[in-house]
Formats: sequence, C-alpha cells, structure tokens
Amino acid sequence: MTIEKIEIFDTTLRDGEQSPGCSMDLKEKIRLAKQLEDLGVDILEAGFPIASEGDFQAVKAVSEEVSRPTVAALCRAVEPDVLKAIEALKKAKKSRIHTFIATSDIHLEYKLKKSREEVKEMTGNAIRLAKQNADEVEFSAEDATRSDMDFLCEVLNIAVAEGATVLNIPDTVGFCLPKEYAHVISTIKERVCGDRKDIIISVHCHNDLGLAVANTLAAIDAGARQVECTINGIGERAGNAALEEIVMALSIRQDKMPYKTDIETTKLFPTSQLLSSIISFGVQPNKAIVGRNAFAHEAGIHQHGVLSNPLCYEIMTPESVGVPKTEIVLGKHSGKHALVARYNELGIELNQEQLGRVYTAFTNLADKKKNVYDQDLVLLVQTAAAAA
Ligand code: KIV
Ligand code: ZN
Repeated sequence: MTIEKIEIFDTTLRDGEQSPGCSMDLKEKIRLAKQLEDLGVDILEAGFPIASEGDFQAVKAVSEEVSRPTVAALCRAVEPDVLKAIEALKKAKKSRIHTFIATSDIHLEYKLKKSREEVKEMTGNAIRLAKQNADEVEFSAEDATRSDMDFLCEVLNIAVAEGATVLNIPDTVGFCLPKEYAHVISTIKERVCGDRKDIIISVHCHNDLGLAVANTLAAIDAGARQVECTINGIGERAGNAALEEIVMALSIRQDKMPYKTDIETTKLFPTSQLLSSIISFGVQPNKAIVGRNAFAHEAGIHQHGVLSNPLCYEIMTPESVGVPKTEIVLGKHSGKHALVARYNELGIELNQEQLGRVYTAFTNLADKKKNVYDQDLVLLVQTAAAAA
C-alpha cells in the first residue's frame, strides 16, 4: 500500500505573526524560517507583502534564504496585491502566490460590499495574473465554511479553470465541527476536483472552539492533502491548528491515519522553544507535545507505572519530539556552562553579551526559586532582549 503524503504548509510567519504579541523583526523571521526549513515544512508562508514594508521585506529575504521549501506570499484577489506578492517572491527557488477572497454572504455584504458576480470575476482575474508569474497558485475562499456551497463550488471551479492547483478551504472563524468540515471537504472533492489528481485540497482551521486540530484531521480523512498550521498554534484570536499536534497525531495514529509527512519530529520541541523565545509568550505548561508538563508525571501511581514501563502513561517518547533528556537541574548553584548547555538543548544560542545579561538574571531568579524551569529560561531571554 502506498502511503500518501500530507503537505505541511506553515503559516507561523504570516497568520501566526499577525496576531497580538507575535510580531517579529526581519532577523527573527529569517532565523525562524531557517528552523522551519530544517524542521521539514513543505511550504513556508512568509508574509502578506502588501500589508506592510516589513512583510514585503520578510517575504523577499526568506525567498533568498531558504532553498528547499516552496515560499508562499499571501495577497487579496486584487491586482496591486498580486503584483506586490510577485515582486517579493522573485528570488524564491519555488514560489507560490496565495490569493484569497471571501465567499460567504456575510463577508460579501458587510466587508467586501461586492456581489457574487464581482467576486467570481475578481477570482478569475487574480489567478490569471498570478499564474503567469509564479510556479504555483493557491486560492483560498475566505470564510468558506459559512459560504453557500453552490456558490463556493462555482468560485472554486473558476479558480481551477484559471490555473490554481491548490484550493484552500479555511474555517476562518473556527465554527465547524469535525463531521461538518469533513462533509464540506468531500463535497468539494466531488464537485470541483473530480478526477483531477493534480488539484490539492488544503485546509486551514482556526481554533475558536478548540477544534482546529480535530477539524484538520477530519478533513484529511475526507481527502485534504495539504494542511495549514503554525508552531505552537499561534494565530488570529484563539490561533491556528498547531503543527506539532497534527504531525504527531499522524505519526502516532498510523493505524487509523496511514499518511506521512516530511517533518523531522525531533525538531518539534526546539522549534517551539525558538518561537517562544522570539515572541512575547511561551506555551501553556499542559500544551500537547511541547508543553513543560507534556511528559511530566506527578501522581505516585503514574510515576510507578512510567518507571515500570513508560508505555503505561506515555504514547510517545519525549525524545521523539526532541524534548531533551536532562539530568541537570538548574538552580542557584548552577554555573554558566550548565546554563549554556540547557539553552543549546532548547535550541537557543546566546552570544557573550546576551549570556552575561541572562546569567545575571538567572542567578537572581535562582536565589528566589528552588528550580528554574525551561519556561523561566525562555522568559529570561525575552526579558533580557527587551531590556537591551
Ligand atoms: O483564516 C483565513 O481565512 C485565512 C485566509 C487568508 C487563508 O487566513
Ligand atoms: Zn487564517
């Protein structure tokens, strides 16, 4: 049996970065982009070039700096946006224009103030222009899950006719339930893709009801072969589907979901830590896969089980997602070497000046606290950077 591949489309630098507390400067975006390349993402959405000069420069720089992943740039379905995205992607080894327009009546009436006919025309025009100037074109029907299905399919059929090969069906407001979303995907597969094997259905789920990952998995079952996601699940409002959760669900539940990804799972934790050290917050301790407590066992009965055989309470090993095995407990007696070693395990490199500042802050904290945890260390780097 051939195992089908799920394409991982990372939008940490776009949907993630545009959410509160997640802004990154150019250097940080390049650093994270390189880490995402190492992690093995297939498509890296680097920004929304028309949105700001910073986003334009970021897409341009990421296009020059990464070589393996396809670099995507977002643009509305209007000519100036598409042209800006084309310009930003000029140096990409593989470029993808990701153009979008809303298809729900509520967005048409109150946001776009456009008729259905106008939306169809804008879709066709934008894709035609993009197609001549990029390796690939992806089309997103914003608010797809609250759109009239007949109209949605009409717009998607226009997108295909003009040359889009990736059709993204966002649950923009995180409203869908898994079964419902799966139904939307299988309907589109039937009514738009038909026999065409070259058209990929992509999914993009927001987490307003905490269902982004569940919806993404349900959509894969229904035929989606690209998933859009972010590290640590950052993104608009309650966030996007978390990349690490989707990838590990597929990896651990091969019995029910026989798909593969190109993600190097041992790099998940270091990537999560790198992102936390760049933006202004880390993940909650009980966050799946990458949270501080994801592999911690406190209750005696659990500890006994795990010591006898980790499989009693662990469905994956910490090492498989890159959580370092550490025998070193950091406290007030720890020296700089131990601190540097721990930061390296967390995927964070400090120059001498940063180390000096962070070490002073670390010793002050260690004086007050018995043990200093990874989250504390990440916070110390953020605070030291803010004070510099
Ligand atoms: O949530 C959404 O609909 C989006 C699209 C622009 C893809 O982010
Ligand atoms: Zn989104």
